Amino acid sequence: MKKNSVLIAGGGSTYTPGIVMTLLQNIKEFPVWQIKLYDNDAKRQKTLAEACKIIIAERAPEIEFSYTTDPKEAFTDVDFVMAQLRVGKYAMRELDEKIPLKYDVVGQETCGAGGIAYGMRSIGPIIEMIDYMEKYSPNAWMLNYSNPAAIVAEATRQLKPNSRIINICDMPVCLEAIMARILKLNSRKDMEVRYYGLNHFGWWTSIKDNDGNDLMEKIKEHIRRRGLTEDLLPGQHKEESWLEAMRAAKDLLKIEPTMLSNTYLKYYLMADETVAHSNKEYTRANEVIDRREKDIFETCNNITKDGSAKNTKITASEHSSYIIDLAKALAYNTKERMLLIVENNGAIENFDKTAMVEIPCIVGRDGFEPLVVGTIPTFQKGLMEQQVAVEKLTVEAWIDGSYLKLWQAITMSKTVPSAKVAKLILDDLILANKEYWPILK
Ligand code: NAD
Ligand code: G6P
Ligand code: MN
Repeated sequence: MKKNSVLIAGGGSTYTPGIVMTLLQNIKEFPVWQIKLYDNDAKRQKTLAEACKIIIAERAPEIEFSYTTDPKEAFTDVDFVMAQLRVGKYAMRELDEKIPLKYDVVGQETCGAGGIAYGMRSIGPIIEMIDYMEKYSPNAWMLNYSNPAAIVAEATRQLKPNSRIINICDMPVCLEAIMARILKLNSRKDMEVRYYGLNHFGWWTSIKDNDGNDLMEKIKEHIRRRGLTEDLLPGQHKEESWLEAMRAAKDLLKIEPTMLSNTYLKYYLMADETVAHSNKEYTRANEVIDRREKDIFETCNNITKDGSAKNTKITASEHSSYIIDLAKALAYNTKERMLLIVENNGAIENFDKTAMVEIPCIVGRDGFEPLVVGTIPTFQKGLMEQQVAVEKLTVEAWIDGSYLKLWQAITMSKTVPSAKVAKLILDDLILANKEYWPILK
């Protein structure tokens, strides 16, 4: 079995140590000879990298490990780039969330005005990374989960149509893992699912066990009682703000009783309640800064101080297992069926061919083959058309440097009540994003 060389781009991400653990856990099915980290913030990356160095030295000393801020060193001789940039880091996420909220509009990392702002920051650096990869390792694959994945995917479709980038999201997988636990199955892989939509904007139309028995009704029963909350496993999606999203599954089931909605739809379909329950002074960014970020940096500092990670609480995660499954499918032609964000190209028959949709694909050595979804109902189609237009206008605004297009994009978001409010938010976002956005005229 050929061994792989993996670059984690955004090496200073809070997810990096978990991904390294998952790589080590999967080392038999996905052997690696090299793991490298790359970030443009040397100090942030070093704290995590020094701990990863110890983790790897103790568990798999044969793996070569290094970290760098130099693109050439990073992108040379790699097979897979796992991309997890957060352009502007949590300081900018906080503003993405708080600026819209100031106007009683949903403030969220990837949805609505906040997601648009984050998209405008992410496009340039992602394109730059693709250029590095194509220059230094032209046969490599970039597995991108940098957010906002929907806007990043549309930007790469337009600007880098032939690049070897695959955009993915862990949300369906994490929600399926919750469903599997509700059903008392061993794994989400014991379910066969049909799903379609956009990133952070989709629906399950069928969930069956491996013998073909329908599981939808059982899951719905649980959702009617308590949404997508269940008792097992603490972790990211068990923190209070996430539990609120999980509970929303209950109301989302009322508005679409024939399918199971991705909980992200709450930001669009329950925008008023979401704003009413938000704390304008303390948003998810603050929660992450005070918990996950603090915790992971403290844990890594302690590993370095002790010179050992033998008893570390850092573990492999659901989030990263999905990314490694994707790498495995590409490297070893496993033909695994996975949800990816890909150009529609007729898979959803009555929908824009050029939209980036999240649908099941078969993944193998040559990339992905999307499966046919067929015709979708008017409710889903209408919502998706509006949201795709928001994403396309955002990318066009970035390319053209157009104030008008970005104003239209924010106005069109279902989370925003009017053009006037959209303009107020946009003008604040422009000031906040001076360092990151192109100049808009
Ligand atoms: P984080 O801020 O801890 O990490 C992001 C890292 O990216 C930082 O170390 C930062 O310095 C680095 N970075 C920013 N701009 C860069 C550039 N131009 N070049 C190189 N490095 C750069 O953030 P996090 O909370 O750990 O999340 C990381 C990313 O993963 C985010 O984009 C987040 O939205 C995304 N994410 C996606 C999914 C998914 O399902 N698609 C799931 C979880 C997280
Ligand atoms: C889910 C989504 C990601 C998103 C993350 C944010 O996993 O799929 O796209 O980045 O949540 O989680 P956080 O804990 O940072 O709020
Ligand atoms: Mn996601």
